[in-house]
Amino acid sequence: MKILSRPRRNRQTEVLRSMVRENHLSAQNLIAPLFVIDGKNQKIAIKSMPGQYRLSLDNLLIEVQELFALGIKCIALFPVIDEKLKTPDAREAYNPESINARAIRAIKQALPEMMIMGDIALDPYSSEGHDGLLDPHSGEILNDPTLEVLARQAICQAKAGADIIGPSDMMDGRVGYLRCALDEAGFERVIIMSYCAKYASAYYGPFREALDSAPKKGDKKSYQMDPANSEEALREARLDEAEGADILMVKPGLPYLDIIHRLKSTSHLPIAAYNVSGEYAMVKAAAQNGWIENDKVILETLLCFRRAGADIILTYFAKEAAQLLRKS
Ligand code: PBG
Repeated sequence: MKILSRPRRNRQTEVLRSMVRENHLSAQNLIAPLFVIDGKNQKIAIKSMPGQYRLSLDNLLIEVQELFALGIKCIALFPVIDEKLKTPDAREAYNPESINARAIRAIKQALPEMMIMGDIALDPYSSEGHDGLLDPHSGEILNDPTLEVLARQAICQAKAGADIIGPSDMMDGRVGYLRCALDEAGFERVIIMSYCAKYASAYYGPFREALDSAPKKGDKKSYQMDPANSEEALREARLDEAEGADILMVKPGLPYLDIIHRLKSTSHLPIAAYNVSGEYAMVKAAAQNGWIENDKVILETLLCFRRAGADIILTYFAKEAAQLLRKS
């Protein structure tokens, strides 16, 4: 029997395997999402996300220092807003004294080299729990009036020191609108990482628990994408690119690796993937039951994002992964 071509020959030893390895994972690829809450000395566990916390500013600063020391050079900040501050017009979103703006300023002051990505959407601040403004009569999410509020929010975050803004609201035309607003305000250097293909997903459940931000009524299907679609993701990508986005993001991550791959092969922009809260919860739950090996599954998962085409991965595993990468 003649087998001329034997792929196993290249897999014989770790030296060989690492020589022919096509993709690599490093802490530089990772962005750590963090939850900030008002108050002092708070570290409130998020039940559905074991190992993740709502941190008050003092503890947030410690966490940010630890991440930086591990090689994580960018965080994505999500504020937990007091129920009393939530309004139908979400005006807390552009309050320069909000917990979000104060956190951005404090991190930048303590550690100027840490990059900060601010989320642009109204849901944490809206008494309705929606990403856009709601017409009280029709229940419709209003596109164009929302853009103006998002622009105020983006400028507020840029003024506080955000390096990247991440519009996660999925309103039409927001990338171009935000780009113009930022430029007019003198923030040409601020990067827009658009949540370009953001799906109406049940995988966001634990995140909405963390922020207590679930919609009071209805769902987000009139603005977030239908999980059945992929051509639509390419259309969104083309628009965001034309409107001046610097980085395109796909969200959620794992069930959408095909979308990451398609965007990577059609766009010339860097591609990011958001390994969302529900994906984190599933791994943690199985690991806590002893059904899978926590460390190996984390590293494999993140590496697979890289293989699919993600240059950047937003993941709640960022710190653990950086620690594991350091060990190996
Ligand atoms: C808000 C926003 C959401 C997430 C990031 N920004 C939730 C949503 O759209 O309902 C989800 C992140 C996660 O699940 O980890 N616009």
